[in-house]
Amino acid sequence: MTTKRATTLLLLPLLFVQSIHASVSIYHTPQQSQLSVAAAASAAAASGTATAGPYVGLAAYNTTILNAPPPPAASTFPTQITLQLTDAPMLNVSIPQKSSFFGFSIEMSVVNQVLGKNASFLQVPFLNLMANLQQRTGRIDIRVGGNTQETATLVDSTPDGKILEKDLAGATNPTQTPPLVFTAELLYMLRNISEHINIRWHLGVPFNDTSNFRLAIAEQGQAILGDYLIGLQVGNEPDLYAQHGHRPSTYGPQDYFNDFGAMIQAMKADEAKLTTRPETLLIGPSVQVIWTPDEVWDTGFIDAYTENLAFLSVERYPSDNCAAAFNTGAPIHNPQDIIGEYLSHGAVVGPLTLYSDSTALAIQKGKPFLMFETNSASCGGFPGISDAFTGALWGVDWAMQLAATNFTGALFHVGGQSVSYNPFTPPPTNESTFHQWTVGPTYYSALVVSEAIGASNTSQVLDLQHSAAAVFAPNFTPLPDQLVAYGIWENGHLARVLYINYVTDTTNQSDVTVTMNLDQPNFQGNVQVKYLRAPTVAQKGNYTWAGQTFGGNFQSDGRPIGNEDIQTVACASATQCLIKVPAPAAALVFLSPTGGQDADQKGAPQTTFATTAVTIVRNTASIDPSVLATSNGRSGALQIGSTSPEATKNAAATLRVGLTMVMGGMLGGAAWLMMA
Ligand SMILES: *[C@@H]1O[C@H](CO)[C@@H](O)[C@H](O)[C@H]1NC(C)=O
Ligand SMILES: *[C@@H]1O[C@H](CO)[C@@H](O)[C@H](O)[C@H]1NC(C)=O
Ligand SMILES: *[C@@H]1O[C@H](CO)[C@@H](O)[C@H](O)[C@H]1NC(C)=O
Ligand SMILES: *[C@@H]1O[C@H](CO)[C@@H](O)[C@H](O)[C@H]1NC(C)=O
Ligand SMILES: *[C@@H]1O[C@H](CO)[C@@H](O)[C@H](O)[C@H]1NC(C)=O
Ligand SMILES: *[C@@H]1O[C@H](CO)[C@@H](O)[C@H](O)[C@H]1NC(C)=O
Ligand SMILES: *[C@@H]1O[C@H](CO)[C@@H](O)[C@H](O)[C@H]1NC(C)=O
Ligand SMILES: *[C@@H]1O[C@H](CO)[C@@H](O)[C@H](O)[C@H]1NC(C)=O
Ligand SMILES: *[C@@H]1O[C@H](CO)[C@@H](O)[C@H](O)[C@H]1NC(C)=O
Ligand SMILES: *[C@@H]1O[C@H](CO)[C@@H](O)[C@H](O)[C@H]1NC(C)=O
Repeated sequence: MTTKRATTLLLLPLLFVQSIHASVSIYHTPQQSQLSVAAAASAAAASGTATAGPYVGLAAYNTTILNAPPPPAASTFPTQITLQLTDAPMLNVSIPQKSSFFGFSIEMSVVNQVLGKNASFLQVPFLNLMANLQQRTGRIDIRVGGNTQETATLVDSTPDGKILEKDLAGATNPTQTPPLVFTAELLYMLRNISEHINIRWHLGVPFNDTSNFRLAIAEQGQAILGDYLIGLQVGNEPDLYAQHGHRPSTYGPQDYFNDFGAMIQAMKADEAKLTTRPETLLIGPSVQVIWTPDEVWDTGFIDAYTENLAFLSVERYPSDNCAAAFNTGAPIHNPQDIIGEYLSHGAVVGPLTLYSDSTALAIQKGKPFLMFETNSASCGGFPGISDAFTGALWGVDWAMQLAATNFTGALFHVGGQSVSYNPFTPPPTNESTFHQWTVGPTYYSALVVSEAIGASNTSQVLDLQHSAAAVFAPNFTPLPDQLVAYGIWENGHLARVLYINYVTDTTNQSDVTVTMNLDQPNFQGNVQVKYLRAPTVAQKGNYTWAGQTFGGNFQSDGRPIGNEDIQTVACASATQCLIKVPAPAAALVFLSPTGGQDADQKGAPQTTFATTAVTIVRNTASIDPSVLATSNGRSGALQIGSTSPEATKNAAATLRVGLTMVMGGMLGGAAWLMMA
């Protein structure tokens, strides 16, 4: 396929860095009342009380703050803990985990908000957010799909030229999924993103109609994405099909097995257009909890389709907010009553025990096993939990537990502006000229987990609380439920230890001191610690990871703000280090003396995309300097190497970088990112 486009000058979104308050006084939008609630809420938080503010805006920007649970009684919460750790991997460590373990699942219907408008108009904050992760991991895996993939149809064009359109009137099920039509431009957009950041994509093949599989997304996905396409999901939560009216009420695991086989047959029949690679990228069964995965394995699924299965998958949210979100009539969970369930290690461990047979089976069969779609609660998450610091700590624990229990990846779901659990949310489209993005708690989880697992692809994770008592000092005290500890071994040696203290206690009396007994050879006598912090688990926004933040609602262009703060802790001896874990916080302890700054602990060099960026596409290998000079009224330059916007803006030296686009011969040309 050859596509030649005329020389074009295309603007990426212009997000102006300016004060939110100034914007409000200029625009007088309904956001103003939300922001006053925000101000009231943060004032209330500072004074230790919560507001029951009458927040009426979009769920993704809800400013109402819950009350953090009171600290546990001192008698039930030991604050002096001793761990016995060995340099060699301890019993029951996980299989080696890839750097890209923590990924994202983006609901197909919102890609035009989150990723970009089209292949040439990419969301710069998204690129920056991904660049931060790429620096740590070298690669990010993202799934585009969800309930909306099942009825999505690839069309040649849409009436108004958009890459994606919804038929809102056609929503049929409890999660009110609108049918979608999309154009190949959506796939070119993914491809273009991958030219900037090493993102690999999972797509989903529509599965609503087994007599007429619509394979165009697989055909075009392979042709356009090439090796950036890594998986094709066949059936999203098939165990919910009957309930949602997408299949007869008797639909069971054997029926799914048969439908999966029918899909493979359809792909084989389409090989002339499809080629053979997509047949080997299939992902299933992606069940929720109506069927157990074991019921699917019992059909002989893995052996029957082993040639085709690139990944085994499940999807799981530990709870749901469907009663409140969709008025289903079921009892509504009041977030204030259940916040403690997201501040409990037991509540993380419990739901995942369902998969212990499955992960062992996957290892035996040599298949990766993905948590393909997850987050704190389905149907949008819980306001006050999913969108507060609670969600950040929970996300770290949930992802690390998935790693420790031999999942091979975890994709955290990104919904639209009507959900609470987003790792990142763009502003409403009509406000994008004066509002920036909102970076949510699970994005911070992604940063922490990415650094904890690191870039080597060799990391083995162990939940120290749920490993045998042998790991603790002889007179050990079992870790309380609100305290979490994971060990991470890299290349066969203990490299990092991650702690979480879920307690909020403004008196500091619930700060924990962990004594780590070590047997590291060549130990340098000190360790580096990075903290994930907020004053309380109820706080919304302004969390810090190693001192850097992405601010509150509408405040981020995707680049961290502030100087990185890595603390050096001098150890008591060559075999014993004391680490403080404040209440609340997560603490990542680097046993290497460089606090994760070693070249070999980084995934890729830091790249930042400034908030004003222009992409120029030409069908020649080099770029016309006169176009550069006049493109946006300034001389273009890409500045890289800084994590702080101020530093980037003030950098005297600028660097012009050309990214040569070689797109399998399809698209000749050069793309230039230009920064003002
Ligand atoms: C891409 O989207 C932008 C913003 O909506 C628009 O200005 C531009 O014309 C679009 N480009 C193409 C090729 O559709
Ligand atoms: C993006 O995709 C379009 C095709 O839609 C292509 O013309 C262009 O070269 C790509 N690259 C960039 C950086 O826009
Ligand atoms: C599947 O979805 C497509 C697109 O919405 C629709 O045209 C088709 O009728 C559906 N098929 C079935 C069997 O529901
Ligand atoms: C905002 O959050 C509060 C506290 O969790 C919740 O009670 C309220 O329903 C939410 N409001 C909206 C509009 O999402
Ligand atoms: C993960 O897999 C490893 C290697 O097979 C095994 O030793 C370990 O017990 C497993 N862990 C869990 C929690 O199943
Ligand atoms: C943006 O659109 C929403 C929904 O239509 C509306 O409530 C809001 O007032 C609009 N904002 C601006 C700044 O026009
Ligand atoms: C880790 O694995 C990825 C593929 O997932 C690969 O691109 C990368 O080079 C590997 N990193 C190392 C350090 O081997
Ligand atoms: C290892 O895992 C097995 C199975 O989960 C468990 O029975 C055993 O106690 C664990 N051993 C240690 C030392 O943690
Ligand atoms: C808690 O500890 C912090 C930092 O160590 C200190 O600044 C603060 O004053 C302490 N608060 C109380 C109530 O002791
Ligand atoms: C976050 O910090 C900024 C800058 O200190 C402040 O203006 C804003 O009110 C804070 N937001 C919240 C939600 O605490």
